[in-house]
Amino acid sequence: MDRFQLHEPRLFYETAHGRIILGDSLAVLSTVDTSSVDLIMTSPPFGLVRQKEYGNVEADKYLEWFKPFAAQFHRVLKESGSLVVDIGGAWTPGLPTRSLYHFKLAIMLCEEFGFHLAQDFYWWNPSRLPTPAEWVTVRRIRVKDAVNLVWWLSKTPWPKASNRRVLQPYSPSMRELLVKGYKAKRRPSGHEISTKFVFDNGAAIPPNLIALPNTESNSAYLRYCQERGIKPHPARYPAELPEFFIRMLTDPGDHVFDPFAGSCVTGEVAERLKRRWTCCEINEEYLLGALGRFERPPATTRESVDLDDDANYYRLPRPGLLWNGEEAEPLPADGGRERRFTPRLLPEDEEAAGEREPADAEYAEESPSDVPAVPLAYQPNLPFDLS
Ligand SMILES: C[S@@+](CC[C@H](N)C(=O)[O-])C[C@H]1O[C@@H](n2cnc3c(N)ncnc32)[C@H](O)[C@@H]1O
Repeated sequence: MDRFQLHEPRLFYETAHGRIILGDSLAVLSTVDTSSVDLIMTSPPFGLVRQKEYGNVEADKYLEWFKPFAAQFHRVLKESGSLVVDIGGAWTPGLPTRSLYHFKLAIMLCEEFGFHLAQDFYWWNPSRLPTPAEWVTVRRIRVKDAVNLVWWLSKTPWPKASNRRVLQPYSPSMRELLVKGYKAKRRPSGHEISTKFVFDNGAAIPPNLIALPNTESNSAYLRYCQERGIKPHPARYPAELPEFFIRMLTDPGDHVFDPFAGSCVTGEVAERLKRRWTCCEINEEYLLGALGRFERPPATTRESVDLDDDANYYRLPRPGLLWNGEEAEPLPADGGRERRFTPRLLPEDEEAAGEREPADAEYAEESPSDVPAVPLAYQPNLPFDLS
């Protein structure tokens, strides 16, 4: 964080409902009234294995760095309030193993600072690149890491919340069931499913898995940055992520705080949803770009959505669809320690890689630091011929 000259925090911009403050959020938080915030919605700098341009802290120092923020978060939150932290995982430098830092963060927040883990969420980004390339596409010993943890923490076990705010459309099979009806029976799990399960509530309760690509490519924010020669923030989250939690955990007029605001996605959503909000960011360049989010008054209604449009859904194959019971080659007995494979870049991979959206660069860059950089190589390696 010492890359930035620390000045006294100052008001950078104000809107009808919120304000952006330029400065160190720790200093800003110390001026915020005790028990005055309803939701802290944030994506802190991740404890990545390499130093990133916006000053990430190494994984092992992460918890120490986070502690003063944790104390302030707890103090400024109302009893009914929530802290939602979107946090990406990290790889051990040079090894195909994962850091525990984001799990330790949740444990520390609960055991040392008195937070409760209201629920763990998993943000699945279907557009994530297969990284780190060395472990995933070259040595083929790990799978694509495509999920961020989102910790929903609260000051008491009873934060204000309602899942009615974040309902989803019924799946096609559920819609069919609602039409055709359901025969009451016992599930393999032993649960008795009564006919009451086929009551049409209008929508479904979502799971704690949020499927959301991070592929913004033509937004007003990006156009604003481009027109002014401002580099867009490299690790933005998609607006639907803060929107989910702001809707579920706050009412209009409540106070939403983002201490690591980046390009102020949280502020943009809070403004649209008429929550009071404070965004705090230490890097002025990110805020110059963020202004593009508040140029025009936010749209109060959304265009109607076609619920039957496949583009609004993701399909994940069930594991096993390609397994025929035989495994062609033995597993590498050394766990992939020896680099046996020559990376191969197929023309279609080159194309696919080129099409990816730079907003994912945060994740794409997460390759181990002391192994050679290699191009992507997808080798089908299937135990049987698909043709
Ligand atoms: C992962 S980014 C947040 C991105 C944001 N959610 C968005 O969608 O644009 C984390 C941000 O925290 C900022 N930051 C790091 N330390 C800070 C501090 N002490 N006070 C305020 N901002 C800080 C970094 O400059 C970076 O922009």
